Amino acid sequence: MAAPPTPTAEIADPALADDGEARIDWADGFMPVLRSIRERFAAERPLEGVRVAACLHVTAETANLVRTLIAGGAETALCAANPLSTQDDVAAALVERHGAVVQARRGEGPDDYARHIGALVKSRPQITVDDGADLISTLHAANATEWMLGGMEETTTGLVRLRALEGLSCTVLAVNDARTERTINDRFGTGQSAFDGILRATNLLLAGRTVVVFGYGWTGKGIALRARGAGAEVIVCEVDPLRALEARMEGFGVMPALEAAARGDVFITVTGGRDVLTSAHFERMKDGAVLANAGHFDVEIDLAGLHAVAGEGREVLPLVEQYTLPDGRRLNLLAQGRVVNLAAAAGHPAEVMDVSFALQALCVEYLVRAGGALPHGVQPVPDEIDNEVARLKLASLGVEIDTLTEEQRAYLGVWSPGGG
Ligand code: ADE
Repeated sequence: MAAPPTPTAEIADPALADDGEARIDWADGFMPVLRSIRERFAAERPLEGVRVAACLHVTAETANLVRTLIAGGAETALCAANPLSTQDDVAAALVERHGAVVQARRGEGPDDYARHIGALVKSRPQITVDDGADLISTLHAANATEWMLGGMEETTTGLVRLRALEGLSCTVLAVNDARTERTINDRFGTGQSAFDGILRATNLLLAGRTVVVFGYGWTGKGIALRARGAGAEVIVCEVDPLRALEARMEGFGVMPALEAAARGDVFITVTGGRDVLTSAHFERMKDGAVLANAGHFDVEIDLAGLHAVAGEGREVLPLVEQYTLPDGRRLNLLAQGRVVNLAAAAGHPAEVMDVSFALQALCVEYLVRAGGALPHGVQPVPDEIDNEVARLKLASLGVEIDTLTEEQRAYLGVWSPGGG
């Protein structure tokens, strides 16, 4: 078979490379685990000649993952997982300073977004790294997975999509389900960075306000916790009875969304579903309500419904569009309903992405070593990788922990009547 075409770079402005390099360097200072993997990869070159394509948010943290893959010997191409999250200076630095192929521009339209994914598909990647499953699902739909060693998926939403896909024709490691990822990325990462986006866009005081969180999965838990920590009253809306019970036991208000709609000041959707906030909710909201989405796709806040009840919005601040109901109440939509932590801020802090991207890097190495022999479909990240990342992160924080004695291990491994 002829060699696949190498995609060419398509970025906003190569002249931004110096700024991007400074940003990548800053993030690298907070990514010690990924750095240690990069150093090992540079010495061992475990990914020599492997074609890796990544569809991720093009941020400084992602750049450090790309550097790590390149250090391991991979030919690496990157496109955006969201049209509004690309940091153009970082894209420039990756191309100009690190020899990566990047096809991404902040604000690119749906045609360019799809074309960039298409270019990576044509390059016949052997390994994919996705955030939202757009790249792997395009490869799957094009019957273009036969040479693949496998892929990885970074988000809950991406895994939901892949599990719904019949007969996935390659292995995809569920990075989002890894214990380290759920704890650090979903809970602490989204918990903080969603507010980073909301506060950068609005400069609101959270203390004394009512924050309504839709969805009490790992990310919703993080957001609710941070909102409470900032002095807000927190209401959780959930459809899963056990999660709703858990939220109530944590001391949060729990009620149906229509009831919460009339009470909230700040609304944050993070369900992974669609049409969570619709015209029925908008019509009940207070003047000045803020609407933000922290889920992966921009379908959680029903924009058509918002236009139906409040007409066209007008930009009152960068990334804040104000919609006025017929009686004069104003609703403020952030970042067009796109994932607020990346569209209105810089995403999760580098410390958080250190864990996520260490997992990704070790999973790429694992797929190369497995040589395509793993079962197809969504598969768990091996526990050894999960534990190794947690161990390395603890070590980077200077934290030591105990280990079980042989007797304790033996006791836990054998059932004994009466527990003695
Ligand atoms: N997802 C959430 N935050 C991110 C970041 N900083 N970089 C890449 N992907 C992300």
